[in-house]
Amino acid sequence: MTNRTFTMIKPDAFGNGHTGAILQKIEAAGFKFIALKLTKLSAEKAGEFYAVHAARPFYGELVEFMSSGPIVAAILEKDNAVEEFRKLIGATNPANADEGTIRKIFAESIGRNAVHGSDSDENAAIEGNFFFSGFERI
Ligand code: CMP
Repeated sequence: MTNRTFTMIKPDAFGNGHTGAILQKIEAAGFKFIALKLTKLSAEKAGEFYAVHAARPFYGELVEFMSSGPIVAAILEKDNAVEEFRKLIGATNPANADEGTIRKIFAESIGRNAVHGSDSDENAAIEGNFFFSGFERI
């Protein structure tokens, strides 16, 4: 168990003006921000971030979408952070997400699903390191 996870607010949620509301829900759920950044991924960087999905049929669509507009990246801290954050955001497909979860409230579809959350402690560390240097985190 670690106390850190990584998240991105995706281009759909940023473009629809939901960044503030999503950050507020994250804080209200007891997560502390360790790092926070507004940026935009090139197609190359989005492809690198999601390289684990390169063989999936939706990979091209995923890379195109994730490089289509700004994103907000963050490292978050809370006890059992990976699991607790996945509970807060809900299922990948918002149609299957529980009421009150971030994806249920803000996501449009399985592809445009508002937020990313790391799926393991190992990936949380890799993904946080992808976006943030030591200088950029507290
Ligand atoms: P995320 O948690 O960021 O990790 C991989 C992403 O791939 C996932 O959220 C979805 O947005 C996307 N994804 C997964 N399945 C599909 C699908 N069937 N069609 C389009 N995008 C998908």
